[in-house]
Amino acid sequence: MANPTLLILAGDGIGPEVMAEVKRIITWYGDKRDMPFDVTEDLVGGCAYDKHGTPLHDDTMAKAQEVDAVLLGAVGGPAYDDLDFSVKPERGLLRLRKEMDLFSNLRPAQCFDALADFSSLKREIVAGLDIMIVRELTSGVYFGEPRGIHTEGNERVGVNTQRYTESEIARVARSAFELARRRNNRVCSMEKANVMESGVLWRQVVTEVHAKDYADVELSHMYADNGAMQLVRNPKQFDVIVTDNLFGDLLSDAAAMLTGSLGMLPSASLGLPMANGRPKALYEPVHGSAPDITGQGKANPIACILSFAMALRYSFDAGSEADRLEAAVEKVLADGARTADLLGPEGGSPISTTQMGDAILAALDASL
Ligand code: NAD
Ligand code: IPM
Ligand code: MN
Repeated sequence: MANPTLLILAGDGIGPEVMAEVKRIITWYGDKRDMPFDVTEDLVGGCAYDKHGTPLHDDTMAKAQEVDAVLLGAVGGPAYDDLDFSVKPERGLLRLRKEMDLFSNLRPAQCFDALADFSSLKREIVAGLDIMIVRELTSGVYFGEPRGIHTEGNERVGVNTQRYTESEIARVARSAFELARRRNNRVCSMEKANVMESGVLWRQVVTEVHAKDYADVELSHMYADNGAMQLVRNPKQFDVIVTDNLFGDLLSDAAAMLTGSLGMLPSASLGLPMANGRPKALYEPVHGSAPDITGQGKANPIACILSFAMALRYSFDAGSEADRLEAAVEKVLADGARTADLLGPEGGSPISTTQMGDAILAALDASL
């Protein structure tokens, strides 16, 4: 059987730095676990704009549609902040999500015990935390029309449109209920049905999908502002949270900090099954290109590495190998390995991006 195929789009800033460690781990799986992948690399974001004048070349888009999974680093940076909106690095990522139809974005927030004291919240609030945010990723205010900046009278007006069809809501709700069944069987849906019609429809459709096919799962609803408050007050009350594109963006960054650092949080963006049964998929850390630490060897590669673990689990049916990689990460943290972002206020001496990769590879070797 042909090897599974991966397209690596390392992107900008710390993207290539953290992806370099993932590439070593992919090689390890080929050498030590007899799981060879066929890897192709290409450009996305600012680096693609520099070369092609577009943040995502059509050839790259076509490759992304063909591979078994895409691994992405990060895009963006100050050099590109003033570019026209249509060619900004972030548009490259948004095009991938939209054209691959990756409607279900899984953003787990797990607090590794070794890091419970590094969260901005108290240990007892976050220790043992394990929640999953399911963010709708291909619609809502990110993509709704009309949009743009125009002039009315003598002033400028910026317009974006929040828009959801019932089928868009239903499919992401289903993916949240399916996930909950494999976890603690609870879903909390977040919107603002008190002020937005799209929120009213969201709540109705989630309730209908639940009643029809998932009555065994416990469902609750919460206004998203209260949800933000509850996430920092008592995050362990949640199992799966399902929410729209913009609320999911904000809530997942907040959840990231519960775990100690944005540098820890992976994500999987999943679409419909392909002919081979695997879902269309893109895996990326939740964090961005971190221009403030680029090129200094300070970036934490764990979010990107755990994103590859999600690829093993959700694209390659290798849950036990994903467990192995996650356990290796947990072990190095328990042993005290810390990149700079994981140091508490009392300080300590951080290790570099590459040294964190070394430590995780050594823990993988030790797992054999
Ligand atoms: P950011 O996530 O890049 O950085 C926020 C803070 O977290 C910074 O202080 C950074 O140093 C730190 N940080 C992030 N990742 C880290 C890691 N792996 N290790 C250690 N520290 C880490 O967010 P930002 O500064 O708001 O955005 C910078 C650029 O990245 C912007 O152009 C933005 O659009 C883009 N961005 C891209 C993505 C993506 O590619 N998916 C996500 C978010 C932001
Ligand atoms: C994320 C990022 C992206 C988003 C940007 C870079 C387009 O913040 O993946 O969370 O807003 O979705
Ligand atoms: Mn974000």
